[in-house]
Amino acid sequence: MSVNEVAAGRICFPAAVVGLGRIGQGYDYDVSVGAGPVLTHANAFASHSGFDLVAGVDPSAAERARFELKFGVPAFDSIEAMQRHVNPSVVALCVPTANHMEALELLLQKPLRAVLCEKPIAATYAEAKRMTACAKRADCVLLVNYMRRFEPGVLALKQALAEGCCGDLYKGVVWYSKGFLNNASHFVDLLRFLLGEVGEIELIHAGRVWAGVDPEPDVRIRFGDCDVHFLAAREECFSLACVELVGTGGFVHYLDSGERIEMRQVVPDPDYPGYLKLSDTARQVATDFRRYQWWVAEHLYRHLVDGTALYSDGETASQTLETVERVLNLTKG
Ligand SMILES: NC(=O)c1ccc[n+]([C@@H]2O[C@H](COP(=O)([O-])OP(=O)(O)OC[C@H]3O[C@@H](n4cnc5c(N)ncnc54)[C@H](O)[C@@H]3O)[C@@H](O)[C@H]2O)c1
Repeated sequence: MSVNEVAAGRICFPAAVVGLGRIGQGYDYDVSVGAGPVLTHANAFASHSGFDLVAGVDPSAAERARFELKFGVPAFDSIEAMQRHVNPSVVALCVPTANHMEALELLLQKPLRAVLCEKPIAATYAEAKRMTACAKRADCVLLVNYMRRFEPGVLALKQALAEGCCGDLYKGVVWYSKGFLNNASHFVDLLRFLLGEVGEIELIHAGRVWAGVDPEPDVRIRFGDCDVHFLAAREECFSLACVELVGTGGFVHYLDSGERIEMRQVVPDPDYPGYLKLSDTARQVATDFRRYQWWVAEHLYRHLVDGTALYSDGETASQTLETVERVLNLTKG
C-alpha cells in the first residue's frame, strides 16, 4: 500500500491533482499554502498534514508551469505519464465533466485508495452509475466534491434541525445563478442531505439557457416533506446562491453561498398578545466556508484512516444527478 508514515506518526497519503484549472489550482492560486482560503484541491492537499501533494496532470503547458512553480512538484501532460513516474494513492479528478468517466477509468487501471471526483460526478446519470460501479470493482473510495456536505456550518445546521430547532420545515426558496446543472445542483444535493429524498418536481418556468448549455428554470422540488422553489437570478448582474427555509418553529437563512448561516426561532410577540413572531436576533451558526476544500480533505482522511462515514459518494451524487436530469428534461418540454 502506498502510504508513508510521517515523523509524527500520522499516516500521509501521496496525492495528485488531475486537471489544474479553476478548482484544481486556480481559485486560490495567489494565496500562499496554509495562509488563507482553501478553495482548490491542490491547496487542500498541500495544506492538510494527512496528504502529501506529489504531482499534477494537465495537457496545458501553462497550467503545468504554474503548478510546478507554486508547489515544487512535477506536473505531467497525461494520466499515463504521471502513472509512469509517481504512484499517488489519492487523486483529485478536476477535468471537465464530460471527461470524468474516461479519466476515472484510466486512473483505476492502477490501484488507488481514493478518487475525489469533482461535481457533477458525470455528464449523465448512466455514466455516473458506471463510474460508481467501476470504483467499487476497483475497491477505490469515490468521494464526490459536493463540498457543503463536509463544511462544519452545514453539519452544525443539520444537527440543529434534527434536534428540532426550527420545528418541521415545510417550505423554502433557493436563489441560484449560472445554470441549474452547474450551480443549482449544489443546492439540490444540499437539500437532499438536510431534508430528505426528492419527490414531486414541477416546472414553473423554463427560463433561459446559461452560456448556451445550462438551462436556468424556476422549478419546485419536494425534499422529504418540504417544498422548495428554485428561482434563477441573473449571473451577469451578480452571483447569487442562498437558501431560505421556513418551519413550524423557526426560519433558516443560508447566505452568501454558505459563508453565513442564521437561524431564527419562534417567540411570543411582546406587542401583540397571542401572536407569535421570529426572534429579533438570529443565532449565527459558525461556518468555515472559505476553507471548504480543506474540510473535504479532512473528511476523506478520516474516512480512510478511521472508517468514518463519507457524506458524498458515487451513490449520493448519482441520485443528485438523476434529479438534475429530471429537471433538465422538463425544460425540454
Ligand atoms: N465543486 C465546485 O464548486 C466546482 C467549482 C468549479 C468547477 N467544478 C467542477 O470541476 C471540474 C473542472 O472545472 P473547472 O472550472 O476547474 O474547469 P477548468 O476548465 O478551469 O479546468 C479543467 C482543466 O482540466 C484540464 N484537462 C482537460 N482534460 C484533461 C485530462 N484528460 N487530464 C488532465 N487535465 C485535463 C484542462 O486543460 C483544464 O486546465 C468540472 O467538473 C466542474 O463542474 C466544481
